[in-house]
Amino acid sequence: MSLRVAIVGSGPAGIYTAEALTKQAGEQVEIDVLDRLPTPYGLVRYGVAPDHTSIKSIAGYLRRVLELPSVRFLGGVELGGEISVDDLTACYDAVVYCTGAMVDRHLGIPGEDLPGSVAATDFVNWYCGHPDMPPDTFSLDSTEVAVIGVGNVAVDVVRVLAKTADELRSTDVPQEVLDRLAKSQVTGIHMIGRRGPEHAKFTLKELRELGELANCDVSVRPEEAGSGEVGELSRQIRGNVEVLRSWSAREAKGRPRRLSVRFWLRPVEILGSSRVEGLRLERTRLADGRVVGTGEYETLPVGMVLRSVGYQSVPLPGVPFDGATMTVPNTAGRVSEGQYVAGWLKRGPTGVIGTNKSDAAETVRTLLADLASRPDRSAPPSRLDDLLAARGVRPVTYADWLSIEAAEAALAASLGRGEHVKLVGRQAMFAAFGRAPAS
Ligand SMILES: Cc1cc2nc3c(=O)[nH]c(=O)nc-3n(C[C@H](O)[C@H](O)[C@H](O)COP(=O)(O)OP(=O)(O)OC[C@H]3O[C@@H](n4cnc5c(N)ncnc54)[C@H](O)[C@@H]3O)c2cc1C
Ligand SMILES: NC(=O)c1ccc[n+]([C@@H]2O[C@H](COP(=O)([O-])OP(=O)(O)OC[C@H]3O[C@@H](n4cnc5c(N)ncnc54)[C@H](OP(=O)(O)O)[C@@H]3O)[C@@H](O)[C@H]2O)c1
Repeated sequence: MSLRVAIVGSGPAGIYTAEALTKQAGEQVEIDVLDRLPTPYGLVRYGVAPDHTSIKSIAGYLRRVLELPSVRFLGGVELGGEISVDDLTACYDAVVYCTGAMVDRHLGIPGEDLPGSVAATDFVNWYCGHPDMPPDTFSLDSTEVAVIGVGNVAVDVVRVLAKTADELRSTDVPQEVLDRLAKSQVTGIHMIGRRGPEHAKFTLKELRELGELANCDVSVRPEEAGSGEVGELSRQIRGNVEVLRSWSAREAKGRPRRLSVRFWLRPVEILGSSRVEGLRLERTRLADGRVVGTGEYETLPVGMVLRSVGYQSVPLPGVPFDGATMTVPNTAGRVSEGQYVAGWLKRGPTGVIGTNKSDAAETVRTLLADLASRPDRSAPPSRLDDLLAARGVRPVTYADWLSIEAAEAALAASLGRGEHVKLVGRQAMFAAFGRAPAS
């Protein structure tokens, strides 16, 4: 009897879990990797910035796991939609939830819901061609844009806003999105940190890239860059501070776009009556390690505010969820007997792709130790294939996904662009393997 495991979510955490299972299980194992989307790889496909092609190439590693004989990809199967937790526990010896963190965190300030105030999650989904985000969602018709947050996602968003469409032409950005980027009116980008340069979350390599943009001047105000000793700081933070200070001494070269990186400012209100007309900020300082307002305000006359203040997970129906940490409570990956968690859903939305590998390995060690302590377990009573067939659900197979990939390569060739150009929407993706999506 082989061990049957369902992994819900085919992002890095899900696929590293499958890989760890094949490596660690001392017995035969059958692994189904399910995803609500017709495509695998989670944020590697719909998060990692299109111009970061070397990072995106990690998909090449992940695909080798999906091609292992013991692993199946079943796309278009959503936990909470086509299937429930009870279905999964009836079909598998163990279930591992790896559904990531799909939605934005909120600022909780007035004006946040005005048209023109946009969550980075939505903007990233848009330029990455996520099937839930139509290409006509955004047009960049404001000249001044504020990006709130100084993490790596904010850096990605700024870079996409600052680059020309020509610079993004060889990427997999959907053609409809590229056409909209080509018409962008954006000239001024303001990136806002609520603390100082030494507290920024972006990494040095990503920050440096902003200073190398061909189409955009970057600046930092000397009084916000700070002038204190940097010797005590970690290498990474010292690097960030030194780069930012060097920008404060830079002269503008008259490039078409300008990026101003601001610090010690927190957003207090997004202004406007029917759409965004400005962003009101309060100067801050630290008091006992906490950010406090100084009562000094300034208003940026921006027509768009991109809120890049972090992602968060959403509860899965039938799975325990901690509303304070917005994660699934677990002990070394165990949620309860037969149920496990890995990735961003387990530890929150931090860390790079590789962090999920050790995280998944920990969960798998726990899972296999639990199963080893139940040597007399009986085979699960049902099969997912039967259950889905009875409901008229036909999953997207790995072969179907390869057809989507081939169609994206053909589209790129026909447009004279790069290796792939993303197909937009489920209709186009399903057409690539000769089917129509379920309505
Ligand atoms: C915008 C952005 C850019 C990033 N860029 C980089 C980078 O350049 N380099 C780097 O190292 N890290 C980067 N990261 C971090 C990296 O993407 C994450 O560490 C990693 O993707 C988390 O993996 P995960 O598998 O937990 O989640 P995800 O990658 O989000 O995968 C979750 C999967 O679960 C599926 N799913 C969700 N709900 C359900 C459901 N109910 N039923 C079935 N399936 C479901 C989703 O469709 C998705 O495929 C970036 C993150 C973001 C947000
Ligand atoms: N190239 C890459 O390697 C890459 C690319 C993208 C993402 N990632 C990874 O993915 C993870 C998520 O990135 P992320 O940028 O979404 O999150 P993040 O690193 O947590 O950054 C979030 C930013 O938002 C700020 N913020 C939070 N709440 C705020 C508020 N109410 N008002 C103003 N600012 C607020 C934070 O400031 P405070 O620090 O003051 O809270 C921080 O600057 C990170 O681990 C990141 O490294 C990696």
